[in-house]
Amino acid sequence: MSPLPQILRAQLAATPAGRLPFVQIMELALYHPEHGYYGAGLRRIGRQGDFFTSVSVGPLFGKLLAMRAIQEWKEQDEPENFTIIEQGAHDGQLAEDVLSALEGKSMRYLIVEPNPKYREVQTKRLGDRVQWVDNLAALQTGPKHAFFLCNELPDAFPVHLVRWNGERWRELFVEADGTEAFRFVAGDFSCDELAEEAKHLPHDLETGHTLEINLAMLTWIRELAHAAFRGAIFIADYGLDAEEFFADSRASGTIRRYWQHHMDGHVLEDLGACDLTTHINFTRLVDEATRHGMKQREYDLQGRVLGRMGLTWMESLQGKVPDRATAALIRQFNSLTHPAIMGRSFRCLILDKPSAP
Ligand SMILES: C[S@@+](CC[C@H](N)C(=O)[O-])C[C@H]1O[C@@H](n2cnc3c(N)ncnc32)[C@H](O)[C@@H]1O
Repeated sequence: MSPLPQILRAQLAATPAGRLPFVQIMELALYHPEHGYYGAGLRRIGRQGDFFTSVSVGPLFGKLLAMRAIQEWKEQDEPENFTIIEQGAHDGQLAEDVLSALEGKSMRYLIVEPNPKYREVQTKRLGDRVQWVDNLAALQTGPKHAFFLCNELPDAFPVHLVRWNGERWRELFVEADGTEAFRFVAGDFSCDELAEEAKHLPHDLETGHTLEINLAMLTWIRELAHAAFRGAIFIADYGLDAEEFFADSRASGTIRRYWQHHMDGHVLEDLGACDLTTHINFTRLVDEATRHGMKQREYDLQGRVLGRMGLTWMESLQGKVPDRATAALIRQFNSLTHPAIMGRSFRCLILDKPSAP
């Protein structure tokens, strides 16, 4: 049993109103340095963990991204010191897969990792093949040519929750309910940026419609826009277009908790012991990226984007009997791209990024 609910109860009791915005609860639940789901130490992803990701399916995802990075390097006229940058690298598995598939091309690999525990695990696995920075601000001075990638990163950012009360949008706060549990309570917006963002939400939804506002994702893409490099940004994640967010069928939002391959919407239960995750609003992300000088190059279901990225590799296999390793990669290709497995639930966005202004 995680001590996090106890810590949270003490924090709530110390606030004047006895409540905190949900975004702060999610921040604690995921990133509290000792008891947060990710903050406490490395979480296993895959069969033995709480959920699968495209990385945990096997090395093919990394191989396809390595091929895409090589393409980007060629499109930039093969600059020296071309760098692959990854954020949200977790246990370093994707970095290892990409580096192994680079076919001798000498590229630098840089990981953006704020969590010292994760950095230690990555260092053990990857040694001196990789360099690290703590945050995106460190990219403002270089590298100059890069391919940035992340898998399931902004879906792990803490979000604000807002609810339509029939007349206006209100923020959801969390308070202790007198027993051992927590409950939501609606209130005025806790910050101006949220109030501003909420101005652009529709007003014709059913009373009670609840959704997430991922301000951290907007800050993140703005910080990326200020990085020095020119190149491409690859983002794979659970996500929707804006109008899908506002559909009646999503009236309780997209936030879910995951543990041991179970998923439900009881996001205030077992805090610290479960992953909390949301679908990102790709329309809003592209909008903010475009405002800051980037251009959408590709946006589609993961199945289609990876299908196109893997075309040359698939063609190279034609007419050959696959060995065991290749047969395993073909099975992984199927899992990553099949609409009933991961091909439709994930989407990929590729942005063109100019050098920083
Ligand atoms: C859902 S996991 C995905 C892990 C891995 N990319 C994969 O696909 O298997 C989300 C990861 O994002 C990391 N993360 C969250 N915020 C981050 C940040 N600001 N910088 C770097 N990593 C972050 C978490 O620590 C966690 O490892």
